[in-house]
Amino acid sequence: MAVFAHRLLASALLALLLSAASAADTKNNPADELVALLNSNRTAAKASSLADNQGLGCIALQYIKAYKGQCDQVGGNKKPVESSFIDTFAPNCGVQATTLAKLTGRLLACQSTYPPPAQALDMLISDSKSLQVLHSKNHTEVGAAVTGTSGGGPYFWCVLFSNGKPNSSFTVEGGVPKTAHPGCFSGNNDACSSAISSGVSTWRLVSALLFSVATAFAF
Ligand SMILES: *[C@@H]1O[C@H](CO)[C@@H](O)[C@H](O)[C@H]1NC(C)=O
Ligand SMILES: *[C@@H]1O[C@H](CO)[C@@H](O)[C@H](O)[C@H]1NC(C)=O
Ligand SMILES: *[C@@H]1O[C@H](CO)[C@@H](O)[C@H](O)[C@H]1NC(C)=O
Repeated sequence: MAVFAHRLLASALLALLLSAASAADTKNNPADELVALLNSNRTAAKASSLADNQGLGCIALQYIKAYKGQCDQVGGNKKPVESSFIDTFAPNCGVQATTLAKLTGRLLACQSTYPPPAQALDMLISDSKSLQVLHSKNHTEVGAAVTGTSGGGPYFWCVLFSNGKPNSSFTVEGGVPKTAHPGCFSGNNDACSSAISSGVSTWRLVSALLFSVATAFAF
């Protein structure tokens, strides 16, 4: 009887470990998830679906870094100085300076704990003004990014919109943006779970191990 129960627990533990591992593999880019949510919100409002531009996504991550973790600066109209796009954001991403296009909107949100994409959407679209930005017909492309600050909160989300031509704006030398970890940005194939959500899977792994220790003692 006890042996049977122990086996049952062991297989439950294995399932838990496997699910933690696969969670780390599949949910690998929250920034892409947010772009999918933004686009379905747009198309539901009869606006076009926007191209997910990796160069613009990388620049959105740089844009966040300009806030240096200061959440309280997000609400106001503070923006990084215009010249930082050419001087630092583009070169840090490997984006060719000549392909920088006009920004037609931005959405920013910041919170001490990590808001996953669906919650981030509600934070970013908190009033009619930001909904207007999201639904604007001026945009052709979008880039999104999320990152914590030095290994923890606060967590920033940034969405940048542009009216550039998706194929020829924010183009990246060699086709692959420079890695900009920590953080995740949209439009690339970067499995960046370690940058944001690994905290969650690691915790699940640790609780699974603690559970295993507890059951070992129980029998
Ligand atoms: C778009 O998202 C906002 C904020 O979450 C929500 O209030 C609105 O109803 C959504 N619109 C559509 C068409 O889904
Ligand atoms: C779209 O662009 C025009 C021209 O620059 C501007 O006047 C207008 O406010 C923009 N619309 C939105 C929703 O941002
Ligand atoms: C632009 O990108 C799309 C999708 O990758 C591709 O189908 C199309 O041929 C490209 N257009 C040009 C002009 O390169």
